[in-house]
Amino acid sequence: MSIQATETKRPYGGYHVRNVPEDDWELAHTGPDTPLGEYFRRHWNPVALSSQVRDLPVAVRIMGEDLVVFRDKSDNVGVLHRHCSHRGTSLEYGIPSERGIRCCYHGWLFDVDGRILETPGEPPDSKLKDSFVHGAYPAMEYKGLIFAYMGPPGEKPDFPVYDVFELPGNKLVPYSTHTPCNWLQVHENGIDPVHAVFLHGRVGEQHFNEAWLEMPTLEFRESDKGAYYITARRLDGMIWVRSAEMVFPNFAQTGALWEYGHREKYFGRVSLSRWTVPEDDTGTWFFGWRHFNDIVDPEHLGDESLCGHDSVDFVGQTGNRRYEEAQRNPGDWEAQMSQRPIANHRMEHLGASDVGVAMIRRMFTRAIEGKLQHPGFPGGRVADGGPIPTVSHDTVLYVPPKDGVDDRKLLADVGRRVLDAILSGHEVPSAERISHIEARLREISEIPET
Ligand code: FES
Ligand SMILES: [Fe+2]
Repeated sequence: MSIQATETKRPYGGYHVRNVPEDDWELAHTGPDTPLGEYFRRHWNPVALSSQVRDLPVAVRIMGEDLVVFRDKSDNVGVLHRHCSHRGTSLEYGIPSERGIRCCYHGWLFDVDGRILETPGEPPDSKLKDSFVHGAYPAMEYKGLIFAYMGPPGEKPDFPVYDVFELPGNKLVPYSTHTPCNWLQVHENGIDPVHAVFLHGRVGEQHFNEAWLEMPTLEFRESDKGAYYITARRLDGMIWVRSAEMVFPNFAQTGALWEYGHREKYFGRVSLSRWTVPEDDTGTWFFGWRHFNDIVDPEHLGDESLCGHDSVDFVGQTGNRRYEEAQRNPGDWEAQMSQRPIANHRMEHLGASDVGVAMIRRMFTRAIEGKLQHPGFPGGRVADGGPIPTVSHDTVLYVPPKDGVDDRKLLADVGRRVLDAILSGHEVPSAERISHIEARLREISEIPET
């Protein structure tokens, strides 16, 4: 062992670890021509909320590219490179027209596909406008979010429709939040269930409730389109099993925000569906929906009026609080952005609770090497026309402790059986999936038949 290594094991040894090494990992970078940026660009990504884009254009920065999102007067949505290809004026000052957007400086008119329709300062017989096309990306609007496809035109996938987009009785309210740090440290929070125990349960004001305080059993798995965890907690005679799934590259769902774990629940679905979208290497957007319904969080319905641009109805998701308040009651925003602008993996000490984090990092590395089996998971719908099934859920079953059985082993076992039941639903026709899963879950519960 070197003298240096020995010294780092002694107290008051800050001197020996004072230097922060350069980060040298590819997963931080999503700008043009970066390996991960190329992978991300093969997918549809949200770039704005529909509610932001009314009669004025909106300047956005996505994966290091400066863009403008606008709606022309015929209600066509466009996503263009922000700087006018005449002499560079920002099209955020442009004027949406019947067709396309007109630059404020000399009036060039750009269609949503980038074709130049008019160059009013040029002679009538000028061929300039036909000699090239302004940078544009295909855009679509879906349930209050504007998506863009920023990859090679010939590789555009169908937009993937996941089952959580079409859950009965759900109102999907679009929202976004911004965190001033690298995308990965924001995204990997979704496969880190242990942070919920501490950050949301034991630190500052309890963000959720008593049920979250217990350390759950943990299992992390790769799925057919990403990764998910299985956690299980004991609450008296009940076992609360929860999974959150990350669909590669950057879509994730969260189960109930305020689960209490004391009432039976069979495949309760999600409170959040969201994409982690890099702004650039040191800024990240979440764009997605809060799901409002009386099934997922019946005891705590949330506040729809707080959800919108850079705003959502649970604490610690934005930088809009006073510093002292944030220090006394930190949330995800404070925990993530303070991991440094780009979390330095060489300075970390990962443990057993970080298995999911390490797993998705390896998967992203495989993805950019072209070795991930589901690079991008096909879009659209499944063969019978139904949405693509996902697994994020909360399930609460009556399974009391058993004499002579280690309760942690029982929790883990029930967690696996719950996931077996949910995954078996992927094999049945879409229309029968939910009732099939519920029936399988009821077989695990020990509530006697009446
Ligand atoms: S800079 Fe846009 S038209 Fe001249
Ligand atoms: Fe969190």
